[in-house]
Amino acid sequence: MAAAVLVSRPASVLPRFSSSCSPVVLSAIPLTVQQRKVHHAVIPRGKGGRSSSSGVAATVFGATGFLGRYVVNRLGRMGSQIVVPHRCDQYDLMYLRPMGDLGQIIFMEWDARNKDSIREALAHSNVVINLVGREWETKNYPFEDTYVSIPQQIAKATREAGITKLIHVSHLNADIRSPSKYLRNKAVGEMAVREEFPDAIIMKPAEMFGREDRFFNHFANMRWFGSAVPLISMGKKTVKQPVHVVDVAKAIINAIKDPDANGKTYALVGPNRYLLHDLVEYVYAVAHRPFVPYPLPRPLYHLVASFFAMNPFEPWTTPDKVDRFHTTDMKYPGLPGLEDLGIVPASVEQKAIEVLRRHRRFRFLEAELADTKPAKTVNY
Ligand SMILES: NC(=O)c1ccc[n+]([C@@H]2O[C@H](COP(=O)([O-])OP(=O)(O)OC[C@H]3O[C@@H](n4cnc5c(N)ncnc54)[C@H](OP(=O)(O)O)[C@@H]3O)[C@@H](O)[C@H]2O)c1
Repeated sequence: MAAAVLVSRPASVLPRFSSSCSPVVLSAIPLTVQQRKVHHAVIPRGKGGRSSSSGVAATVFGATGFLGRYVVNRLGRMGSQIVVPHRCDQYDLMYLRPMGDLGQIIFMEWDARNKDSIREALAHSNVVINLVGREWETKNYPFEDTYVSIPQQIAKATREAGITKLIHVSHLNADIRSPSKYLRNKAVGEMAVREEFPDAIIMKPAEMFGREDRFFNHFANMRWFGSAVPLISMGKKTVKQPVHVVDVAKAIINAIKDPDANGKTYALVGPNRYLLHDLVEYVYAVAHRPFVPYPLPRPLYHLVASFFAMNPFEPWTTPDKVDRFHTTDMKYPGLPGLEDLGIVPASVEQKAIEVLRRHRRFRFLEAELADTKPAKTVNY
């Protein structure tokens, strides 16, 4: 760990070598680094793989989450140095270790409430990515902290450290008038980040799907409760445009490389819009499970969800999540999107099988996807 931190120091704090150093030792010192006053970790070299250097030294807050693993992997495979501030046990993040070359991923404990800890985490980086999020409020961290104060502190520390690239991940439906407290705080958080760091890149992904998601898996798991799926208004008044998690990770990486991305807000959505009802029907069709939807009025749904929300560990759902999932995805024709970052978004039909195969019964494990009718799309 100590050695790794030393490697990531900027030139200004590189150790000075006394004149008594032998010529052999001196010849091993990267003199160009000293002359240019830039540390070798941020000078691009190599062919662009995991063992090269991309010139990116990134601190990824929230790297241990769903999106985090994809972002860290993408950074690692182009040869970046990555700082992963975490609060979990180190055994819980072992899966991140092979994503970068030896010594390129540096783990450090952080406390989101401690400003010094934030400063320390980004002190040696030239890119900061904020993926901190939580679907439910906890006693220690209400949404105001998770989505407003913490992003604001990260933006402030990034500006004060003189770093020019900050990527903040918000939500497509972030809106101060939303029925969901999560989405209201996301909207306030966006404004707070912009105020602290006007050049921040704000990513607004729709609900993301991927192997570890809490969207498709959530609906597919509803079969545990008697194979009937409750949907407000049968899901026929909600339109969703989910985006593949890998596309969002690629967007973050491409925004790092694109100097024109600074200060922009991106709306990251999938290629198709679906009624929630049709989307969940498709989820069940791919999983080869019977789909039995039934309409549940919002107050009743909230009541049921508030029982789950009492779980002090990981509530399966909450009233806020019910509202978020039943919010129609906004359209932002004026904002740049995935295509502007050179990404062709993957459709639900192309990628859903990766998420849903595990929900199939054994005899359907290898069933052809072609047998499943694609979900109906809408354009409103
Ligand atoms: N998932 C989606 O469909 C979706 C859609 C749109 C936008 N977003 C946004 O995208 C971002 C990433 O989403 P995600 O699904 O990857 O989130 P996630 O799986 O819930 O992961 C969130 C990360 O934030 C960390 N974190 C949360 N609260 C923290 C705290 N108080 N102090 C320190 N670390 C904390 C978690 O650390 P621990 O592992 O230690 O808990 C975890 O690493 C979030 O801002 C989310 O709101 C997500």
